[in-house]
Amino acid sequence: MSKQPLLEVKDLKTSFQTERGSVTAVDGITFNVDKGEILGVVGESGCGKSVTSQSILRLLDENTAKYEGKIEFNGINLFKLSLGDVQAIRGNDIAMIFQDPLSSLNPVYTIGYQITEAIMLHQKVSKKEAYVKAIDMLRLTGIPAPEKRINEYPYQLSGGMQQRIMIAIALSCEPQLLIADEPTTALDVTIQAQILDLILNLNKKREMGVIFITHDLGVVAEVCTRVVVMYLGQIVEEADTENLFNNPLHPYTKGLIQSIPRLNSDRSKDLHVIEGTVPSLEDVPKGCRFAPRCPYADELCREKMPELKEYRGQKVRCWHTDKIVFKEEESHVSPNR
Ligand SMILES: Nc1ncnc2c1ncn2[C@@H]1O[C@H](COP(=O)(O)OP(=O)(O)O)[C@@H](O)[C@H]1O
Ligand SMILES: [Mg+2]
Repeated sequence: MSKQPLLEVKDLKTSFQTERGSVTAVDGITFNVDKGEILGVVGESGCGKSVTSQSILRLLDENTAKYEGKIEFNGINLFKLSLGDVQAIRGNDIAMIFQDPLSSLNPVYTIGYQITEAIMLHQKVSKKEAYVKAIDMLRLTGIPAPEKRINEYPYQLSGGMQQRIMIAIALSCEPQLLIADEPTTALDVTIQAQILDLILNLNKKREMGVIFITHDLGVVAEVCTRVVVMYLGQIVEEADTENLFNNPLHPYTKGLIQSIPRLNSDRSKDLHVIEGTVPSLEDVPKGCRFAPRCPYADELCREKMPELKEYRGQKVRCWHTDKIVFKEEESHVSPNR
């Protein structure tokens, strides 16, 4: 019998009822997260990363959002549970952190109150024990002088500190799975690095599974073991991080990698950016969704949507993988051409 993954997302489809009809923001996504693994989810803004993470925890308004497919956490399908039961899992076995810490911190309560409340909600401990734990959590997230900080209000702290508080709250319930949706995007690089270290540490210490969502492939290279690349609501490539960077198969992935700023790059040269923009959900291309922006696209691509297929241990959704790989391998053999 094969090992059960911590989280299994299978054929997830999330649609919204809008004034102009129904739009499908996530269209048939399948991936697993194992215990102790950090899975990266990347793609430009608007590709459906946040809708995916919100769907996993059923955070969307179910009056307008409709889910199809399956989300299994430790073998339990979250779509089959009542919202109340999902709420019990949320912030307990599965925690989530967002880009904007202030949206999840309450301005009228002290940091200490918010963390101890979170701890007491999820663990059977006294107020005093919760307080001690809260200080521990703050220390663990690298907050200096936690005994002092615990009495302050969110507005008294910098953005980086607020983000750490939010992470401390999210992690104080010792989740099995952490969903981090662009948690460092709003932070400056030094604080970003510290937060990444923190997540990595907790992942190692507690074997916590992590879904790390970002539009920044540079961050993925640092923290993730495996990566899923999303484009317009679909997965276009999945690979181990090393393979993804050394051997990207999908033209979209190649474009993303070429767009990473490098310290040693020639600054006078423009960064390679993928031409065009992500199409709107009301105007989804009929064939391959990336075709309008793809340098390799031909008639077949514009007419027929490719499936996500295995290719040399990776998965890729492209009609021309053979051709592209062959061309590249050929040009490596004769570098003078
Ligand atoms: N509540 C909603 N109603 C209608 N469309 C939505 C809603 N939430 C998100 N979308 C659309 O779903 C698509 C994916 O959004 P999102 O998941 O936030 O992208 P990402 O996080 O990758 O930047 C976008 O086109 C967005 O406009
Ligand atoms: Mg997002």
